[in-house]
Amino acid sequence: MSGGRARLAVLISGSGSNLQALLDACAQADFPAQVVCVVSNVPTAFGLERARKAGVPAVALDHNAFGSRADFERALGDELEKAGVEWVCLAGFMRLVSADFLARFPGRVLNIHPSLLPAFTGLHAQRQALERGVKIAGCTVHFVDAGTDTGPIIAQAAVPVLPGDDEASLSARILAEEHKLYPLAVRLVVTGKVTLEGTGTRVAAQVTGSEQSLRSPGAP
Ligand code: GRF
Repeated sequence: MSGGRARLAVLISGSGSNLQALLDACAQADFPAQVVCVVSNVPTAFGLERARKAGVPAVALDHNAFGSRADFERALGDELEKAGVEWVCLAGFMRLVSADFLARFPGRVLNIHPSLLPAFTGLHAQRQALERGVKIAGCTVHFVDAGTDTGPIIAQAAVPVLPGDDEASLSARILAEEHKLYPLAVRLVVTGKVTLEGTGTRVAAQVTGSEQSLRSPGAP
């Protein structure tokens, strides 16, 4: 950490509402991290505006401009290293990252996914959840490994699936939790309260949940 605050990059492809949640958290004086670089593989992503507004260097790196995934990732990694990035947060970044990229930031790449992993990996997680008729949905922040949404889980939040929900209403309810969960997860990892351990994570004993469980539907 430099200056006591961990240096984060946030990688995006779109709206960047999770980026905004991280920027807002980092604006708090007592938050143990700062966003030093935002990169989007989509040049028109609204999240780039959010970064500029927050005074954070914003870089558009269009993957279409590169001949191969490896070339794109090399340029991406170089950009992050140039900015002195220690932790990489994927936030709606719609590209898979390879083992070669991960090796440049070992155990320091996080992702947020809109399901209670390991259920519903990949695209349209909220639609998958509705199609399976689950009663509790949610979101997960996890360390990234070479699989798709398979890495060790750092933190999760659950929300009910309500009668009449469609993909949009469920996604909005989950997204509101994502915005709280990502800053929480970043805080836990950069302060060493949650650490990678083999294929899992270790949670320091002092981290306790305020609730033991979330249930839906509740008891009659
Ligand atoms: C979020 O639902 C995130 O979990 C998923 O993509 C969405 C990104 O939203 N990976 P935003 O760009 O942060 O608003």
